[in-house]
Amino acid sequence: MIKQYIQTNQERFLNELFDLLRLPSVSADSRHKGDIRKTAEMVKARLLEAGVEKAEICETAGHPIVYGEKLVSANAPTVLVYGHYDVQPPDPLNLWLTPPFEPTVRDGKIYARGACDDKGQFYMHVKAFEIMKNQNLLNCNIKFMIEGEEEVGSDNLGTFVKANKEKLKADVILISDTSLISLDQPSITAGLRGLSYMEVEVESANRDLHSGVYGGAVANPINVLSKMIALLHDENGRVNIPGFYDKVVDLSAAERQAINKAPFSLEEYKKEIGIEDIVGEKGYTTIERTGIRPTLDCNGIWGGYTGEGAKTVLPSKASAKISMRLVPNQNPDEITALFTKHFKSIAPKTIRVKVMAHHGGEAAVTPTDSKAFKAASKAFEDVWGKVPIPTRDGGSIPIVALFKKELGLDTVLMGFGLDTDALHSPNEHYGIKNFLIGIETIVAFYRYYSDTK
Ligand code: BES
Ligand code: MN
Ligand code: MN
Repeated sequence: MIKQYIQTNQERFLNELFDLLRLPSVSADSRHKGDIRKTAEMVKARLLEAGVEKAEICETAGHPIVYGEKLVSANAPTVLVYGHYDVQPPDPLNLWLTPPFEPTVRDGKIYARGACDDKGQFYMHVKAFEIMKNQNLLNCNIKFMIEGEEEVGSDNLGTFVKANKEKLKADVILISDTSLISLDQPSITAGLRGLSYMEVEVESANRDLHSGVYGGAVANPINVLSKMIALLHDENGRVNIPGFYDKVVDLSAAERQAINKAPFSLEEYKKEIGIEDIVGEKGYTTIERTGIRPTLDCNGIWGGYTGEGAKTVLPSKASAKISMRLVPNQNPDEITALFTKHFKSIAPKTIRVKVMAHHGGEAAVTPTDSKAFKAASKAFEDVWGKVPIPTRDGGSIPIVALFKKELGLDTVLMGFGLDTDALHSPNEHYGIKNFLIGIETIVAFYRYYSDTK
């Protein structure tokens, strides 16, 4: 019955998603403020069409949040679905095979910015809801909260959650914004890393200088910054900031063993992203390095002359954006302070250094023995014919820890993307199969979850 409904309506579902994907809702870029609003309005309209009894656009100090709900009974459990309609900037544009905001199907995949992260994924919930509503299968109260600032740190969502605890009252949070192991091996994300994001600037002379006239006698900020960045890791691939690992709780041997049971082919991993070999913290596997260990990475670096040809110049400034992925128990504010202190301490006297903090967020671990997790697990078993493996993902959704802290609610991270879907990269895509089977799995989740209260 469900399969049939999805099949019959597949084309309409996809066309509706394409309409959403055509709107360039880039939250980081103020030029897209109008597109963000149009997207919020479209999300609201689609929620109403799908059958919510109330939908509204909630203003914030930044981009609006779309809220919608359908309450069926005070005795039924309530699921709060979270997602985000904002997307990452599409740059570099020249590497897209088809334009980022003109959704195109190739090889059974939808290519567009936001196809997987997170428009394609949150929209599965809207369609799963439509099915349950139309087929009289809705046995849970559903609340939708779809925000527009996830990709820039969700600052205003935090304020909204704190101010609307009664409205957001629920039994569990359900999010599709993470990855599966593969279409052959389903998984449910049981943990996410946290984040601390910094920007640093190194300044030398009060202006750009002739590199022949001054070179050799005046500190070059690019040379200095590169050296400082290089000092941030030791020879064992560990982050070289005093105190960085102090609060990290090591996993038990059994937990590590369980995590490493997930199927993983190093050869395929290397081949898919085109690398010669892997790197990382000594003593840990690739799955552990990206899932349960904290890291530090330079995300961007600039300074000096980068235009065409050669310009001989000793630049005045150099900058970098540096992120640290955190694990449970590491506090982002503490890590930010440790980084700041350390980075200043390794700066030579020949330059001035500025350290600024961008957004951050705590890591999250979700229980795997809750009713909701078990319902999700059964749903996968039912639809996929395989028991899903709990995994720890390396990405961050800072709001998950906040939901726990402010609303006392656990989250089920039922994501249907793949790590290879090129999230945040050119040619982001989402499998039509993932989209459709995701809808079916979500409907199955509600079936099992509504049995539990
Ligand atoms: N959906 C991602 C997070 C993600 C991706 C988790 C894949 C697990 C697997 C989310 O939209 C995201 O990109 N988050 C940011 C953090 C945010 C504060 C900018 C991230 O992880 O960089
Ligand atoms: Mn996302
Ligand atoms: Mn993202």
